Amino acid sequence: MENPDRCVLVAQCPSQAGDPIIVGWAQTYHHTAVVDAAPTGHYLGGVTVDPSWRRQGVALALTAARVQWVADRADEVFYVVNPRNLASIELHRRWYFEEVMRSSRLTGIEFSGGVGILMRASLAEQVPRR
Ligand SMILES: CC(C)(COP(=O)(O)OP(=O)(O)OC[C@H]1O[C@@H](n2cnc3c(N)ncnc32)[C@H](O)[C@@H]1OP(=O)(O)O)[C@@H](O)C(=O)NCCC(=O)NCCS
Repeated sequence: MENPDRCVLVAQCPSQAGDPIIVGWAQTYHHTAVVDAAPTGHYLGGVTVDPSWRRQGVALALTAARVQWVADRADEVFYVVNPRNLASIELHRRWYFEEVMRSSRLTGIEFSGGVGILMRASLAEQVPRR
């Protein structure tokens, strides 16, 4: 991606035949225009892994790379999540994300189920947990 304000990644693994296949993707976005209670800043803006490749550390690798990308540019990082998405909340826990607020609309995203959580992590001298 040429956009210097956004990090878009794909995860590539070898297929059974040995050919490279894309098994996941993830992105960040730089939220610059305030449209609701969510602050401006760099957000981890989505990560999806092929169901047959889950629980093998793909999202972890995609998130570690994105957090490092943001850390090179800012001292904090955000993401928004549906409270029912426990897999996502558990995935991000390694970077010490903390809940900032809950709202039905965050960064312009309307949440199914009525509420989303804004999470924030400081990137100053952070060592991710295992
Ligand atoms: C959430 C998602 C990206 C995780 O991808 P993944 O490659 O399977 O995740 P990893 O293997 O890197 O898992 C890293 C950690 O995340 C947590 N985690 C991942 N999937 C989990 C699940 N189903 N339940 C609970 N915790 C989970 C665990 O802490 C896991 O570490 P562990 O395997 O040592 O216990 C994947 O399930 C997915 O694509 N879901 C649909 C899209 C989505 O909800 N994206 C996130 C919100 S945008």
